[in-house]
Amino acid sequence: MLFIIILYLDYSIFVYRNISDMKKIFLITTLSSFLLVSCTFEQAEPLTVGCTATMSYATDIKPIIDSKCVTCHFSGGSGTGDFTDFNVLKAKVDGGIFKTRVYTLKDMPQSGSPQLTEDELGKIKCWMDQGAMNN
Ligand code: HEC
Repeated sequence: MLFIIILYLDYSIFVYRNISDMKKIFLITTLSSFLLVSCTFEQAEPLTVGCTATMSYATDIKPIIDSKCVTCHFSGGSGTGDFTDFNVLKAKVDGGIFKTRVYTLKDMPQSGSPQLTEDELGKIKCWMDQGAMNN
């Protein structure tokens, strides 16, 4: 995204030097709207569920992990770490790798597997923000 903005800016500066005042005003307006739209898009990414309630690992989180992750993340499975063991999962959360793969890289669950819904992503995010407890 940043790369595209930089390219756009470079191009704009080039064009800017070669055009009339009226066109300059038009260009600035276009650029501002473009930036505004890209910012809006960034904000529209997941994690929109407000953490109004306390998440319970047993009732809110475990069922999601069991259905979307444990298919691979079990003892002897292809996924690194047995997520049927709370302490293993907790270590991935505390170490930051969970957040990196699920929220930043978004490559877990692996492509081709059922993905996490926005609601599920929101619940897990709340649970992590609340200290990822075994409650
Ligand atoms: C189709 C199989 C599959 C599914 C489903 C899956 N994973 Fe994975 N996962 C893997 C494999 C294989 C690896 C090891 C290779 C890699 O790191 O990409 C892995 C690695 C990871 C890692 C990195 C662990 C480490 O210590 O390096 C995390 C975190 C992770 N998965 C989280 C999840 C979560 C959370 C889910 C469910 C929401 C999930 N995965 C669903 C296959 C899967």
